[in-house]
Amino acid sequence: MTELQFDRHRRLRQTSAFRDLVRETHLHTDDLIYPLFVLEEQGKKNEVPSMPGVYQVSIDRLDEEIEEIVSLGIKSIILFGVPNHKDHVGTEAYNDEGVVQMATKRIKTIAPHLVVMADTCLCQFTDHGHCGVIHDEYVDNDATLPLLVKAAVSQAKAGADVIAPSNMMDGFVTAIRHGLDEAGYTNVPIMSYAVKYASAFYGPFRDAAHSSPQFGDRKTYQMDPANRLEAHREAQSDVEQGADLLIVKPALSYLDIMRDLKDRYDQPIVAYNVSGEYSLIKAAAQNGWVNEQEIVLEKITSMKRAGADLIMTYFAKDIARWLNE
Ligand code: PBG
Ligand code: ZN
Repeated sequence: MTELQFDRHRRLRQTSAFRDLVRETHLHTDDLIYPLFVLEEQGKKNEVPSMPGVYQVSIDRLDEEIEEIVSLGIKSIILFGVPNHKDHVGTEAYNDEGVVQMATKRIKTIAPHLVVMADTCLCQFTDHGHCGVIHDEYVDNDATLPLLVKAAVSQAKAGADVIAPSNMMDGFVTAIRHGLDEAGYTNVPIMSYAVKYASAFYGPFRDAAHSSPQFGDRKTYQMDPANRLEAHREAQSDVEQGADLLIVKPALSYLDIMRDLKDRYDQPIVAYNVSGEYSLIKAAAQNGWVNEQEIVLEKITSMKRAGADLIMTYFAKDIARWLNE
């Protein structure tokens, strides 16, 4: 019998030391951005029913939460506000004393070095739950831009370190860049939700942020999950308009898009591991059907492997704990 010829790939897998030596992708606490839901209502810390382990925290109860985040070595959070009042044009989003602004100021006194990112959108603040101004049941792109700009400037004024516009209006990056620069915030970066799909994975977030659209859906502004080239066009526009960081959202069903963007652009790529992706794992783990730690680390590692430099994830505190062990 002739000798078989083949490569012995298993040589480099034989011990954990070998595997450590040849590992291509490494996860660090520095990669993580922790999303935080802030309540305007006082004295509350409510667990989100569809997101076990995730809380809406009122401004007066933020201290403990922020200290925990900092002590775990997490460098950045992104704030989502849950206001007491909503109206047709999302006034509370650009109120200098609104929930996100007040929370930002509070956090900056507790942890001046924590990078505070502000999600900039209207959907938590509008009574109809859409991400912009409504005319004839349609979100009016150009009428929405000035309101987004006002929100961004107000957030920067409160001390936000990064502005993260998420409503998928055309021209939002250039509008916000101009507004920030004019107001003197030339140093505040824009982390654009450049590629955001109209996804069923946002369900639990909408419970947490009380931001479900009251009629219709978001398909006239968020992208069709079937499209890849459209993602390139969206990202291209945001890069040209001056986005400093590019988000792909959701993460797990869109790893191909992340890889595309990483290969095409020089900006840091950010994966948003969204609420539904969190809840699916939590539910299965609580049933004992999967090993939570192993499955989370595998999934987050796959996002890095696909090209993400940073990962926004509700698992950030757990991951930081596991990495510190
Ligand atoms: C909307 C917004 C969404 C999320 C954050 N901001 C999506 C939506 O409701 O359409 C989802 C985040 C998540 O699911 O974790 N501006
Ligand atoms: Zn929105």
